Amino acid sequence: MLNQNNMIENNKIKVVGISGSLRKDSFNTGLLQAAVALAPAEIELEISEIGQLPLFNQDFEINLPAAVQEFKNKIKAADAVLFVGPEYNYSISGVLKNAIDWGSRPYGDNSFKGKLAAIMGGSTGNIATARMQYHLRQILVALDMHPLNRPEVMVGAIQEKFDIEGNLIDDYTKNKISEMLSALVIWSKRLKI
Ligand code: FNR
Repeated sequence: MLNQNNMIENNKIKVVGISGSLRKDSFNTGLLQAAVALAPAEIELEISEIGQLPLFNQDFEINLPAAVQEFKNKIKAADAVLFVGPEYNYSISGVLKNAIDWGSRPYGDNSFKGKLAAIMGGSTGNIATARMQYHLRQILVALDMHPLNRPEVMVGAIQEKFDIEGNLIDDYTKNKISEMLSALVIWSKRLKI
């Protein structure tokens, strides 16, 4: 179920943003930071780091490491998750999968269940994370999330879309991000009817 309490508290859709790249100058993290700046008034978007999570090990899922518990709590308190990622070998990055696996466990305590989801990503290639995004959509079925279908935000030649200081400077990409966040607001209203 959506976290109705958050919505009632401040009347905003609480979104947790996760970047699947740990690289210091990651373009995908740059997209996520741009989304924070572009978020409409109805959305509160907070970035959650995943680099501090240990490698998933099912031996530890009963007594969860503190970093994992903290991550799960953030997801549980949110209405939606914005997944932002590079495409690694035609799929999602290992670090993103690691975070997703932790968040989904232990059995019966899937922190992602029932949340809205939105996806965006960029790559240096022309296929622009399409393969990664469709793999991720398959995973969202397992997580029982409610992904936004469109607009799809797939950014090719991403290295050309940022200035030297890491600011997103491409108007088309900025507009796509804004459109997606606005569509997420509408999607959340539709699911609450
Ligand atoms: C890549 N890259 C890549 N690009 C792509 O379009 N399809 C792919 O399958 C892959 N595979 C891949 C694997 C690995 C291990 C790395 C490190 C890179 C290139 C990728 O798009 C590029 O490095 C991006 O800049 C990564 O995103 P960040 O780190 O800038 O957010």
